[in-house]
Amino acid sequence: MSRYAAELRQTARAMVAPGKGILAMDESNATCNKRFEMLGIPTTEERRRAYRELILTTPNLSEFISGAILYDETIRQLSQAGVPFTQVMQDAGMIVGIKVDTGAKDLATCPGEKVTEGLDGLRERIAEYYQMGARFAKWRAVITIGDAIPSRTCIEANAHALARYAALCQEGGLVPIVEPEVLIDGNHPIERCYQVTDQTLQAVFAQLRLQNVALDQMILKPSMVIAGLDCPTQSTVEQVAEMTIQVLRDTVPATVPGVAFLSGGQSNQRSTEHLNLMNVKYGALCPWRITFSYARAIQQPALLHWAGNDANIPAAQQLLYHRAKLNGLASLGQYEPAMEKQTVLV
Ligand code: 13P
Repeated sequence: MSRYAAELRQTARAMVAPGKGILAMDESNATCNKRFEMLGIPTTEERRRAYRELILTTPNLSEFISGAILYDETIRQLSQAGVPFTQVMQDAGMIVGIKVDTGAKDLATCPGEKVTEGLDGLRERIAEYYQMGARFAKWRAVITIGDAIPSRTCIEANAHALARYAALCQEGGLVPIVEPEVLIDGNHPIERCYQVTDQTLQAVFAQLRLQNVALDQMILKPSMVIAGLDCPTQSTVEQVAEMTIQVLRDTVPATVPGVAFLSGGQSNQRSTEHLNLMNVKYGALCPWRITFSYARAIQQPALLHWAGNDANIPAAQQLLYHRAKLNGLASLGQYEPAMEKQTVLV
C-alpha cells in the first residue's frame, strides 16, 4: 500500500466532490498551437501563458472546478503578477493536476493504432511534480475504431501502460486519472462503440489489478458510448446515457470514487446534456460519482471570444465560468437546456 494512501483517497474524493468536475487544460504545445493558429493567435510561449492565466484566474471557478490538469510548460509558469500558477490554483481552492504521458505513438505491427508512451523516467518526474504541488496526474490512451481494429494487441498494450503509470503515481503521491479514450472518429454505430468500450474497460481494470493499483485512490476518465461522427444514424441523448451507464456498471468496480468523462469532440451542449441525463436517470444506480473532465467542451467559447486579445479577458472568463457552471449542475442532474440562453456577457 502506498504511504500516501490516506492522502490519495482524500484527494480522489475531493476531485469528484458533489457539483464539481475537473478542468482539462493540458493541451501539449503542438495541440494548443493548432487551436491558436485557427484563430490567428501567435503561437508563442507568452500567448499560451496568457491564455492559461485567463483560465486559472477566472473568478469563482472553483465553485464548479475541483482541480485542473496542466501541461509541463504550464506548471512551471507564473501569472503576470509573478505568482506561480500552482500557487494561483491553491489560493483559488483548486487542486493541481499534471499530464504525465508523452503522447500516443504508432504501435509497431499494428497499422492505424497507437500506444501511449511516457513510462521511462516517470518515477522521477512524478517526484518533481509532487514537489511542485501537483496532487493528481493524467495519462491518456487512445483506442481507434476501424474495420479490423482495435486489435487485442493495442488494447492490452495500452491497458498495461495505464496500469504501470497508475501504480507509479500512487507510489509517488499523485492520484492517477486513468483515461482510456475510445475515439469518436469513424462511421461505426453506437453498438460497436459499446463493444469496444466494454473490451477496453475490462482490459484496463484487469491490468490495474495485476499492477496492484488501489482502485479507491484513482479516477476513471472514459469516453461516452456514442455513434461515430460519420455514422449515418447519430445517437440520441437517451441512448448515449443508457449505454454508457450500462457499460460502466458492467466493468467499473464500486470502490472507484469517480468517473469523470472527456468530451472527445462532442458539442458543448451535448456533452452537458449527456452528463446531466446520466445523473438524472441512473445516478441512483451508480456507486461512483459521475462528472466531467472536459477540455474542449468547457474551454471553447472562452478561447473563441478571447482570440488572443487581452481586452476580451473578462468576457471570456464569464463564458468559461458559465460552461463550468452548467457542467457542475449536470453532474448533479440539475441542468436545464434553457440555462444555455442565460445572458452571461454584461
Ligand atoms: P476533451 O474534453 O476535449 O476530449 O479533452 C479531454 C482530455 O483531457 C483529453 O485527454
